[in-house]
Amino acid sequence: TSPIVLLGAMDGEIEEIRNALNSREEIIIGGWLRAYRGTLEGRPVVLAKSGVGKAMCAMSTQAIFDHIAREEIPSNAAPRKPGALIFTGLAGSLNPELHIGDTLIAADCIQHDLDATALGIKRGTVPYSSHRFLESDPDLLAAAEGYRPESGRVHRGRVLTGDQFIARRNDPQYAYLREELEGDGVEMEGAAAALCAKVNSVPFLLARTISDEADGKAEVKFREFLIRASQNSLKLLTHIFSRL
Ligand code: ADE
Repeated sequence: TSPIVLLGAMDGEIEEIRNALNSREEIIIGGWLRAYRGTLEGRPVVLAKSGVGKAMCAMSTQAIFDHIAREEIPSNAAPRKPGALIFTGLAGSLNPELHIGDTLIAADCIQHDLDATALGIKRGTVPYSSHRFLESDPDLLAAAEGYRPESGRVHRGRVLTGDQFIARRNDPQYAYLREELEGDGVEMEGAAAALCAKVNSVPFLLARTISDEADGKAEVKFREFLIRASQNSLKLLTHIFSRL
């Protein structure tokens, strides 16, 4: 069966998942990307740290997809595709009802900093394409249903992705993120991974644990949370895998 690709942006965001892999083997993809093959709940996976930001994330995601397409197949066989891509990690909360430690499962996500409005294109749209809000795969969303974390609540909502760490509530941008895009959480990779999955026709799910409230305390809270960042992700992934 095709492997499921598991990504997080930073070491802390994948650590517990890596420790939980059975038959773990380290591989280097394209000469630069460190990844781990193994199984989780008996399913083959490829796990990697994408790096921070949309560009690193898109590069890493595509590199893994291409690696899977080429490996271990007879030369005349159709290229293999990953069974799914699941991105987990931390996010800042934009929604007053979402607190530190809560789980945000993305119904959809969008690049909040993609702005070609000067060309008459709606903010967040990849220009001259139909890509704006990128939806998570319904089967993966259904599999995530019923997840009960050890602490905090589970929300389904909208994740906003951009190449900025958001830490100022009184910034005019904050109102745009919350009121116009109606974001529940903000982070720096999800929509890049989602776009990569969409273009490659790979089912995608994005889920984040809230580490901070995207305010003046965000930097400290984020650092504090990073140590236990991947514990909740591992539990969520185990829940999803047991229901696929
Ligand atoms: N990831 C976690 N918290 C974040 C924030 N406040 N802004 C952007 N990405 C984040």
